Amino acid sequence: MATWRLVVVAGARPNFMKIAPLLARFDLLSGFEVRLVHTGQHYDWGMNEIFFADLGLREPDIHLSVGSGSHAIQTAAVMVGMEQVLSDYHPHLVIVVGDVNSTLAAALTARKMNIAIAHVEAGLRSRDWTMPEEVNRVVTDVVSDYLFAPSRDAVANLESEALSRDRIFFVGNVMIDTLVVSLPRIKASRAASALNLQPGKFAAVTLHRPSNVDQADAVHALMDALGRLDLHVVFPVHPRTRQVLESIGFGASSNLRLVEPMGYFDFSNLMLNSACVITDSGGIQEETTYLGVPCLTLRATTERPVTVDEGTNELATIDSLPDQVAKVLAGDWKKGRIPELWDGRASERIADVLAQGIERKL
Ligand code: UD1
Repeated sequence: MATWRLVVVAGARPNFMKIAPLLARFDLLSGFEVRLVHTGQHYDWGMNEIFFADLGLREPDIHLSVGSGSHAIQTAAVMVGMEQVLSDYHPHLVIVVGDVNSTLAAALTARKMNIAIAHVEAGLRSRDWTMPEEVNRVVTDVVSDYLFAPSRDAVANLESEALSRDRIFFVGNVMIDTLVVSLPRIKASRAASALNLQPGKFAAVTLHRPSNVDQADAVHALMDALGRLDLHVVFPVHPRTRQVLESIGFGASSNLRLVEPMGYFDFSNLMLNSACVITDSGGIQEETTYLGVPCLTLRATTERPVTVDEGTNELATIDSLPDQVAKVLAGDWKKGRIPELWDGRASERIADVLAQGIERKL
């Protein structure tokens, strides 16, 4: 039987939750030979190794070690590294996930080498071109052969951009696949109790978007607003945000606790036990919707509108936060429902589509 050679690419923290169920699925199937490439976009233990350990991910076959840099430097470094990997291995298909710089760089490299690409989490759009991720999403989708959409709105976006319908597959959300299988370990984590946090009595915060954390004044205002909320706030700080907080000399206050970035099970345990989550992350909007936890997203737009329309998410500003938190504390927040096909089986559907592709192309 012929074998289809796949390269799966991951580089930054949110990628790891997305590749885990795909790799697990391909391990169960014959006909695929999979190489895992880690670009090294994220490299700190708390942003990287801990997720490999939590999710039981195997060691990458190839590590590009690109590290941090400007967008051009980082994207170029991944492209140079990927070109060598793809020349050496000659895969039939490259799988990229999400919307980080590594996603875009790997997809562009493969396209220029006429290698087929599958984009997992295709079709999300914030319509905000100041977000680097929006550029990454749009360009990755344009060059991809398989567009695996997590929600109906993502399918509609791709169709409205006239991307051919036979490339678009509505498969559900791979991040939720990981959440579903991890729930027992998440519930068993002692993260919230180790921080002496009472279930339902605190907010968990994550903030790392350039629009929120790159300007010192804005960070000050945000931290002040968080410190004034009517409930205890715990904030595992992303390295990008930590640098800004250190540069402005901001420390914890009595109501706002800053802690190190956490692993997957521990942070999910924090979310599960929180009264609400305050975030600017993409994936966390989805995870809170699945868990039924109120989510306040400190952004002007979201590329994941299904979490607002159907889930527990609302957009927020510094000014709207106190009223929204009051609503949460009064038990007055929408309950939400789990979006279609967020059922833990997205990676299975993706592998099925690709297996049919093997039959057609080999
Ligand atoms: C990246 C993604 C973003 C994603 C986020 C998740 C892009 C354009 N951005 O943002 O979409 O939501 O990851 O975390 O791809 N740093 C460390 N240690 C690390 C990694 C980063 O200290 O392991 C610091 C470096 O100073 C670096 C900065 O964080 O310059 C930003 O890292 P980078 O990967 O460029 O972007 P993120 O803000 O992490």
